[in-house]
Amino acid sequence: MTEKIHDLIDKRWSPRAFSDREIEEEKIKMLFQSASYAASCFNEQPWRFIYATKDYPERYEQLLSCMGEFNQMWVKTAPMIILTLVSKKFAKNQKPNAHAQHDLGLAMGNLSVQAMSMDLYLHHMAGFSPEKAREIFDIPDDFDVLTMIAVGYLGDLKQLPENIREMENSERIRRPMESILFDGDWEVMK
Ligand SMILES: Cc1cc2nc3c(=O)[nH]c(=O)nc-3n(C[C@H](O)[C@H](O)[C@H](O)COP(=O)(O)O)c2cc1C
Repeated sequence: MTEKIHDLIDKRWSPRAFSDREIEEEKIKMLFQSASYAASCFNEQPWRFIYATKDYPERYEQLLSCMGEFNQMWVKTAPMIILTLVSKKFAKNQKPNAHAQHDLGLAMGNLSVQAMSMDLYLHHMAGFSPEKAREIFDIPDDFDVLTMIAVGYLGDLKQLPENIREMENSERIRRPMESILFDGDWEVMK
């Protein structure tokens, strides 16, 4: 048998055209449960999520309003938006948790694979205002605001403005393995 990358990983990509099909409650539950199964430093589970579907229009609009203009243009078709946060300190001793963001990444990796297994796609975003999110949702200083994510079933490219449509068709580019694996030479890793 020839080994290959699992389809749930291989077929993942970040779309900007989402169908207006709602995400079933049960599937939403599975997404967050899969995130909670991730490993974390001292099992702290520092990840937190604020999310809205279009069933909660007020919160959905609040989340959307935190995004930059470009992201708002395409995210508005997504049936669900998530805001991710991490607790900056360990609950048990209030010491800084230097690995909280790492652990959120693991949780989002789980959520991504679980999503793909249910034909759902994610599009992560840094293009938003964490300060605005902090203000709207009254997020305490003990939490870092990290990313926003659009979630949904694949939609039709035609619903996107032309410039964005072109981006959707661009080829997947990845660093070659020798540039990410240390083999005694930092030069090739740049
Ligand atoms: C933390 C993070 C922030 C990102 N921010 C944005 C964003 O603000 N807007 C956007 O359109 N895409 C954003 N992306 C999507 C990336 O551009 C995309 O994941 C990358 O080009 C690789 O493409 P792929 O996910 O389709 O494989 C972000 C991705 C990550 C992980």
